[in-house]
Amino acid sequence: MLKILVCVSGGGTNLQAIIDGIACGEITNARIVRVISNNRNAYALERAGAAGIDACCVSPKEYADREQFHEAFLQAVEEKEPDLIVLAGFLVVLPEKMIQNYRNRIINIHPSLIPSFCGKGYYGLKVHEKVLERGVKVTGATVHFVDEGTDTGPIIFQKAVMVEEKDTPESLQKRVMEQAEWQILPRAIDAIANGRVRIEDGKAWLLK
Ligand code: GRF
Repeated sequence: MLKILVCVSGGGTNLQAIIDGIACGEITNARIVRVISNNRNAYALERAGAAGIDACCVSPKEYADREQFHEAFLQAVEEKEPDLIVLAGFLVVLPEKMIQNYRNRIINIHPSLIPSFCGKGYYGLKVHEKVLERGVKVTGATVHFVDEGTDTGPIIFQKAVMVEEKDTPESLQKRVMEQAEWQILPRAIDAIANGRVRIEDGKAWLLK
């Protein structure tokens, strides 16, 4: 059974999609062993608590410097010996050591079709603002493995969402979550938990 550790910063609707996916059998062969937030007030922590999942906060504000924060964060991860780390709206740059130690075992959900509207500065509502500014007609979400770059790792799943003329960043964010993020994140976890994802030459492929 795949041991998943989920990192969050905010509302935790993607975390909820994973919790629900496991509960209803959409995700099999996996369980969440811990939720870590960098933000003590994240509603995601309440969601974890309500589901009876071990949850903790490791906030950079509570450490003298970045190095000490990274050390505490890594310890909170390693304690649980996870097989897969899921960044579900996690707004912290990971320690490099963690990326090396968990190569091809960390995934992230990004609210656009990578390589559009991604990279440094593209997070949260900003992504959707840029999408509307550019006037593209199709956007979506991507689940990818995490490497040293920003949103550059192998892509596992993508799903497109149509942009509508009357969209605001908020309405688009909501639709991308409902129509794409909450669907492809559980699907990607299920595929990994059941050995259906293969990585070759820096690309991820889904086995039938
Ligand atoms: C999502 O849009 C996700 O794609 C992005 O951050 C947001 C997190 O939302 N990385 P939530 O905390 O899962 O509700």
